[in-house]
Order: sequence, then structure tokens, then C-alpha cells
Amino acid sequence: MATQDTFYSSSLFLLLFLFFGFLFFSGEASLKKYQFDIQVKNVSRLCHAKPIVTVNGMFPGPTVYVREGDRVLINVTNYAQYNMSIHWHGLKQFRNGWADGPAYITQCPIKTGHSYTYDFKVTGQRGTLWWHAHIFWLRATVYGAIVIMPKQGTPFPFPQPHREFNIVLGEWWNTDVEKEVTKGNKLGLPPRASDAHTINGKPGPLFPCSEKHTYVVEVEQGKTYLLRIINAALNDELFFAIAGHNMTIVEIDAVYTKPFTTEALLIAPGQTTNVLVQTNQIPSRYFMASRPFMDVPLTIDNKTATAILQYKGIPNTVIPSLPHLPAPNDTTFGLNYTTKLKSLNSPQFPANVPLNVDRNLFYTIGLGMNQCPTCQNGTQLTASLNNITFVMPKIGLLQSHYFNINGVFRTDFPDRPATPFNYTGAPLTANLGTSLGTRLSKISYNSTVELVLQDTNLLTVESHPFHLHGYNFFVVGTGIGNFNPAKDPAKYNLVDPPERNTVGVPTGGWTAIRFRADNPGVWFMHCHLELHTSWGLKTAFLVEDGQGPDQSILPPPKDLPPC
Ligand code: C2O
Repeated sequence: MATQDTFYSSSLFLLLFLFFGFLFFSGEASLKKYQFDIQVKNVSRLCHAKPIVTVNGMFPGPTVYVREGDRVLINVTNYAQYNMSIHWHGLKQFRNGWADGPAYITQCPIKTGHSYTYDFKVTGQRGTLWWHAHIFWLRATVYGAIVIMPKQGTPFPFPQPHREFNIVLGEWWNTDVEKEVTKGNKLGLPPRASDAHTINGKPGPLFPCSEKHTYVVEVEQGKTYLLRIINAALNDELFFAIAGHNMTIVEIDAVYTKPFTTEALLIAPGQTTNVLVQTNQIPSRYFMASRPFMDVPLTIDNKTATAILQYKGIPNTVIPSLPHLPAPNDTTFGLNYTTKLKSLNSPQFPANVPLNVDRNLFYTIGLGMNQCPTCQNGTQLTASLNNITFVMPKIGLLQSHYFNINGVFRTDFPDRPATPFNYTGAPLTANLGTSLGTRLSKISYNSTVELVLQDTNLLTVESHPFHLHGYNFFVVGTGIGNFNPAKDPAKYNLVDPPERNTVGVPTGGWTAIRFRADNPGVWFMHCHLELHTSWGLKTAFLVEDGQGPDQSILPPPKDLPPC
């Protein structure tokens, strides 16, 4: 009997092995499972300890490794006192907004003591993305990398690196971030700026008590390394550079680019950048450094985070040199750098830029000031698109749309501002009130959309990284000053524009993006500066279902959190 059991189980094992072995070697999709426990943990940085919200007690959280084509199940169990939801930033979630994660947009939050399994497929994407909490400002500590490997047998379109590592840039506050935000809201002002920037959760040795909180990576001389750089900071666009080493940009937001070499790079919150680095210098220790870009006179945390690239065999006593970072207000560097970003646009990885536009949208980005009787000054700072400050609903927009629940949102978000004005002229400081509403723009299935995002001088001009959920888009044009619909489109790049999910609208300028609305659902779009998102610089697209069998929103999962 025992022999027979063994026989059965070993033949079952063999069968299973053959089956999964086949899947593995044929490069077929597999199932990847993760458990994310939302836990509060005491962490100390800069000589200050405080409880922070984490995933599995890790800061930054665990890296999600998947392969293109995989199905991924991530069960999130919330043991923290806050409501939670997690967004898989940059994953397209085809027909599957239920797994997208922004609280009150595609789901209600996961309450304390409850779980929700994000169930999604990774299709047509490979590269670096990331995940973060998408409720309150909890992404300050709840974030991590997503690495999507190309399909088995599909090489990178650049030299195979010897090794790779993640560089996740973040921000650290010595005090409780949620309390700072509440305080700021009472005053109607921004909360206190962060106390440090971090690299993989560590500020580096230029900060007090941080010798032990320094990220060090050991490299061998004469090799090529792939760095997956993620800007997970809340409010700061960042420069990044490595002393003595150039970087070759090969991918942004999980889309391959035409490679180019640079001494420094600029990355906005929400964006990712993959670079190749050759360890072709004298073996030593070299600082990798990151510091904000800010080209208007606003107070920010301007401190430099550092990590160390350490050649093998070099003792820790060697003092590393600092890289040359662009000046904090170097607008020219930023503009030059972004014009170098171009899609690879190879036969294997084509740039399918929509050449004709069905729907033209023009949204102005504004700061403002509204009455606030409960605020200390009687007013509060705010932000708007086409002068509309988005009001968060009480139940998820995707549910209300899917189940036809009335009264939650309206679909009358205007395609352009009510009254055109000189957007980027002298600062506008009068009539700064905005109108409030949960207003969406309805987009027909499979239509091609062009959206021009125009910065304004309402209160002040400022650069804004805009993120669209559910899609990548092509950045077909950008410029300084007011967008000119008669002249600017002629200068668009419709051949190999960068394709991404988050784009910087330059200070006092505009950016034009295009995408095909082939993913039905409700998709959030917002400034990825947390301050501005929380002030209402956000809206959502309601992309209608198509007629075909694979053109409608999938049914919601059974465990979708109730409101
Ligand atoms: Cu990375 Cu809606 O955000």
C-alpha cells in the first residue's frame, strides 16, 4: 500500500513537474502570490524613532517580482489603525479597475482587520514600476518596487547587465505625517516639509545618526549594472547622479527608450527610470546622490540623500566623493533632459502613437484659495483643473458606475476652461476661488484622446507631474508659456515620443499627451505631488464599454471591500 501511495504521489509529482516545467520553459504565464500585512512598526531615522505604517514590517516594502504575462495575487491584510488601499502604479489593469487601488475611485478602503486580494494580469508591459498606498498620505512609508521581467527567452533590447539593483527614492519626516497633514489642513496651509530624502529608505551619512542608515551596493570593476530608479517621494522632483559614472537611460515607466548617456537625471514623483552603469572607474567608493529640483521660490526640503557605490575590496574608511548634481533651480537641465527621452520604437517594441484625435481636451492646472470658516485664517489653499477642485466621493466611483448608483458623480467635467485667459502671464492673485465637485469626463470606447495640460500663474506657476491610471500615454509635445493650438501641434513628435504613465508639466508651460481609450473603467488622473492631490488637483475619466466581448469592465471580485 505504502509503495503504491509513493508510486501515485511520485507520478503525480512527475506530471506536475512536466506541466509546470512546460509552463516555465515555454515562457507561459505563471501565478505569483504575495501576502502584504499592513503593520505598524517603530523605525528610527535621523535620531528620531516613530511608529510607521509598513508592509510586512519592511521600509521600503517588499519588491514584487513578476514576469510579463503572469497573473498576480496580492492579498493585503490590514492590521493598522488606518484604512488602507494599495495602487500598482503604472500597471494598466486591462478591464480590471477593481485591482487598481485608489481609495474611493476604484474601491473602498480595506478596513482594519480586513483583507482584499488584488488579482491582476501583467500584459504587454515589462520593466520597473512600483506600488504605494493610495489613501491619505500613507504612501510616505507604504511603498515598494515592482520588477517585471520580460517573457522567458525575450532579452532586453540592451546589453544584458551583470546584476541589477533598485534605487527607491523617498522622503522622511521625523514626526507623524498624518498628524502634520491634519495640522496643515486646519491652517489651510501646506504641512511641514520633509526632514530628509532617502534612498531605499535611508538618508545616508550626510544626516545625523545615519551612518548605519546608508544604502551601500557592492560592485565589481568592469561590469554593467542595471539600476531601477523609482521616485516614491511625496512632493519633490529629484535629480540623481553617481560620482564619476555616467548613466545610460534605457527605460522609463516600463517602456524601453532610445538609449542615451547622461551625467545626471531628473525624475518626478511617480516616474521610474532604468539606467545602465558601467563600473569603469578606479575602484573606490562613490556617492550616489539625490536632491530636489524646484524652479520657483517655494519652500521645500532641499536636502541631499546619498548612498554608496562601493567597488569590491575597497575598505569602508575611504571617503566617497559627491557627484555633480544640477543646481536646484536648473530649468534648462530639466528641459534638455526631457527632450532626450524618446520611445525605442523598434519593430518589436513599436510606438503606436494615435495620429488622429477624436477628442481634444484642454485642462488648466491652478492653485487657488477658498473660504474656510473652520480654518485659522478663514481661507485654505486649494488646487484645481479647469477651476474645479475635485471632491472625493464616499463610495467608489467604479462601483457607482458599474452598478448604476446615481448621485455619486457627474460626467460633465468641461473639455476646456469656461473662459480662456492669459494662463502664464503675470501672477493672478485675485478671484482665486474654485468650484467644488466630483466631476468626470466621459470618453467613448476606443476613441483617441489628446489632452493638453496647461500650467497657470494662479497664485504661482509650478511644475506638476501628472499621472493617469489605467493607461500609458504618449508625450507628443511640451512647451513654455501658453499652448498655441494653431502653431504647436505642427511641432509634435508623432514618431517616437516618450510613452509613460506620469509626465511633468513644466513650470509655466504645457504638455500634450495622447492615448487610445481602449481600457474601459474609471481611471483616476492627478498631480503626483501628494500636496496637490490632496488639495484637489485630480479628476477621473469614465471610459465607456465597447460592444465586443472583451471590451467591457470585468465583474468585480467577491472580496471587493464594501464601503
Ligand atoms: Cu502613483 Cu494615483 O498614483
